[in-house]
Amino acid sequence: MPPSFSVQPVMRFVGASQPVKRPKEIACFSYDENHEFRPDDSSLKYYYPPQLGVDLSRGFNTFVKHDDSQDEHLDSLLKAIVLHEQETGTKIDAKMVTWRGMMTKSGQAAPNPSTNSFIEENHAHKMLSRQKERRGNPGRGPPPEVMQFWGYKFETLSTLPAPWAETSRDFIEGRETQVVNNKEQYCSIVRTGIGKTVLCLGGEVDAIWDSKPQEKGSPINWVELKTSAEIRHPGDMETFHRKLMKYWIQSFLLGVPKIIVGFRDRDGLLVDIKEIETQQIPQTVNARPNAPWNADVCVNFAAAFLEWLTQTINDEGVWRISRRTAHSPLIEVYKVEETGHGDILTDEFKNWRIK
Ligand code: A3P
Ligand code: MG
Ligand code: MG
Repeated sequence: MPPSFSVQPVMRFVGASQPVKRPKEIACFSYDENHEFRPDDSSLKYYYPPQLGVDLSRGFNTFVKHDDSQDEHLDSLLKAIVLHEQETGTKIDAKMVTWRGMMTKSGQAAPNPSTNSFIEENHAHKMLSRQKERRGNPGRGPPPEVMQFWGYKFETLSTLPAPWAETSRDFIEGRETQVVNNKEQYCSIVRTGIGKTVLCLGGEVDAIWDSKPQEKGSPINWVELKTSAEIRHPGDMETFHRKLMKYWIQSFLLGVPKIIVGFRDRDGLLVDIKEIETQQIPQTVNARPNAPWNADVCVNFAAAFLEWLTQTINDEGVWRISRRTAHSPLIEVYKVEETGHGDILTDEFKNWRIK
């Protein structure tokens, strides 16, 4: 039997929250409009409220869509870490290095004997799940590709490539006709901690409210953009609160303080926008009868799991973290390769670290 961590009984995670470090940006990088890596903040976007009433499907046929069927591993994150370490002359101290999106998913880990573990998602598994999801679509409403486009369209409608004061009125008013391109991204790399584990996380940030502070490590007014179906019935409210908890986890991990939700109707017309403070979400969800979720339990679970992972992955090689089914109480970890780093670490990173 491989070592396993049980998510049950949930009571063992109830109680005051374990300490959480405020995420601090240590580095960043961008993907340009061709999804080429750039070691800077050139793809950073500035939030500027969108106009209501816009059809979010408009421009779907000119969508420049990133092909994510290729496994990008941790490549860009590692590239940015190498540049950061070369610049500062110090190695990062995090126990775990991963994409933010990986934090709650299954993955593989390649530990470096003395210092860090690098965790990535099992790409083949992700592609398979996506195919199954597609097949499960009963064919009512717009196709899933169009609904997915709404999220990116909302980003284009709500952001500017430069601060408002430097942007022409024509551009702001013409955002509805801008080509939507999701190859372009800004990624923030933060040092954070949950319980006893120091983490280095990389993740996409949609926009900034004002501009980056001069001082490194200061809180940054990031904005996460989301689209969601308008709330018309009590059932819609339930669904929205379940989404809020996902928004909270995603935003809290990178230290994103504000979430802007664009509500759309069933046809994809933008009908309303709402600003939500990330730190208010736990209270909002808890205030409801039979709250489906508790942020402290979530943090305590993550803290316990990460500590267990750090102790369990105590040797080099490639390890797999897996849950047999989505509802299985056990998360198992087993070694799949005795030595090396599989495809997880790039040659560039290994060569740098050997020096
Ligand atoms: P919405 O979340 O507004 O629907 P993010 O919110 O993380 O910035 O992602 C931007 C958009 O990418 C999403 O917009 C959605 O369209 C798409 N997206 C993100 N994760 C997805 C997933 N797991 N499956 C399908 N689409 C996804
Ligand atoms: Mg995003
Ligand atoms: Mg978003």
